[in-house]
Amino acid sequence: MRRNFVAGNWKMHGNRAMVRELLDGILAEVDQIEAPPAMAVIPPAILIPQVAERVAGSAIEVGAQNVCDQEGEGAFTGEISGAMLQEAGCRYALVGHSERRALYGESDALVGQRALAALGAGLTPIVCVGETLEERDADQTEGVVQRQLQAVLAATGADRARDLVIAYEPVWAIGTGRTATPEQAQAVHAFLRTQLGSAAPDVTILYGGSVKADNADALFGMDDIDGGLIGGASLKADQFLAICRAAAA
Ligand code: 13P
Repeated sequence: MRRNFVAGNWKMHGNRAMVRELLDGILAEVDQIEAPPAMAVIPPAILIPQVAERVAGSAIEVGAQNVCDQEGEGAFTGEISGAMLQEAGCRYALVGHSERRALYGESDALVGQRALAALGAGLTPIVCVGETLEERDADQTEGVVQRQLQAVLAATGADRARDLVIAYEPVWAIGTGRTATPEQAQAVHAFLRTQLGSAAPDVTILYGGSVKADNADALFGMDDIDGGLIGGASLKADQFLAICRAAAA
């Protein structure tokens, strides 16, 4: 279902004390947001149980930063299955974050399998796509995000497109302070929507890459931008809350 949505990807940040402080800050004010968007935090896996317990009963949901491509259980050392994440309190799982693709060699096909496994466990995959600066400069943006998205749809079946959240995160805008302009992001979001067939009007498409309290309004005001996947700014309660307010209906 398409809806306004803000998710905070904590990446490899945090510890138990930080979880207490950050969530205390968020939970103290989140109820005062009128017509709030859907909201989730995505901590490192080991902090998921603590986070899930703290946010239970609030409007904040929980996601995982990755999910094993294999369903069921088995000899997959170091992996965490969708069922385990689900049992720990997750509703979402990121798949194909650019850091996973670039630093850990995840292929389009593997990302597709991870999305399929997430769906199999009842999780909503947040499928990350995005081009590097080199690819943008070579005018390959649409080709890259199309390839990345189609690999996921090939694995899940196009009929599952409705069950995905898509996150457009241009690699050159992640952690750089250099945001895509609202118009640049909107153009790619509109293109991504054309790739979703009959599900297009129903799919939530987030923008990620240096979203802050002071640029969120302009980004979320664009027709095809339904909210944000937030990195650095999601580690500060006041910033995260301001971004959630910007995505309120
Ligand atoms: P920043 O908001 O820190 O640029 O990170 C974006 C991101 O990668 C979220 O997944």
